[in-house]
Amino acid sequence: MKIAIYPGSFDPITNGHLDIIERSAQIFDKVVVAVSINSQKSPLFSIEERIEIVKSVTSHIENVEVKTFTGLLAEFAIKENAKVLIKGLRAVSDFEYEFQMALMNKKIQPELETLFMMCNKEYSYLSSSIVKEVGRLGGDLSGLVPDSLIERIKNKLK
Ligand code: PNS
Repeated sequence: MKIAIYPGSFDPITNGHLDIIERSAQIFDKVVVAVSINSQKSPLFSIEERIEIVKSVTSHIENVEVKTFTGLLAEFAIKENAKVLIKGLRAVSDFEYEFQMALMNKKIQPELETLFMMCNKEYSYLSSSIVKEVGRLGGDLSGLVPDSLIERIKNKLK
């Protein structure tokens, strides 16, 4: 079984993330969406909320599982029997940091490959941070995140 891990903070999940998950699920037998508990960030949504939200917006995709991890991503991936990490790439500015992480993950677990998937052009400007900024300033979030999340994000930002 070909298993891939799609890691991130998902605070909150955006339509760009969802697009990568849907496309990856067509390539791999199973995609594990790995929601990171990062103690250095203070997220808008708790880890429990982020897991519940990611589960609800991916419930239509049969071969997607949502899990959480702490510590090294490469070790989590091996524990899940995955050989592939999927990363979405937006602009060139993503590349340097992603390149560094891919090489470090390869050093930690040489059998692990990082695959970069180009984002859909519609979402090339999208990030969780920009969604929070627009929401905080009262902007329209439609098209940026799943419709079912819009009110929830706005309430959280109040
Ligand atoms: O959505 P984000 O915040 O950009 O996701 C970043 C994430 C979770 C993919 C990254 O921080 C990560 O891999 N964290 C796990 C810690 C780790 O393994 N660090 C060494 C990798 S170089």
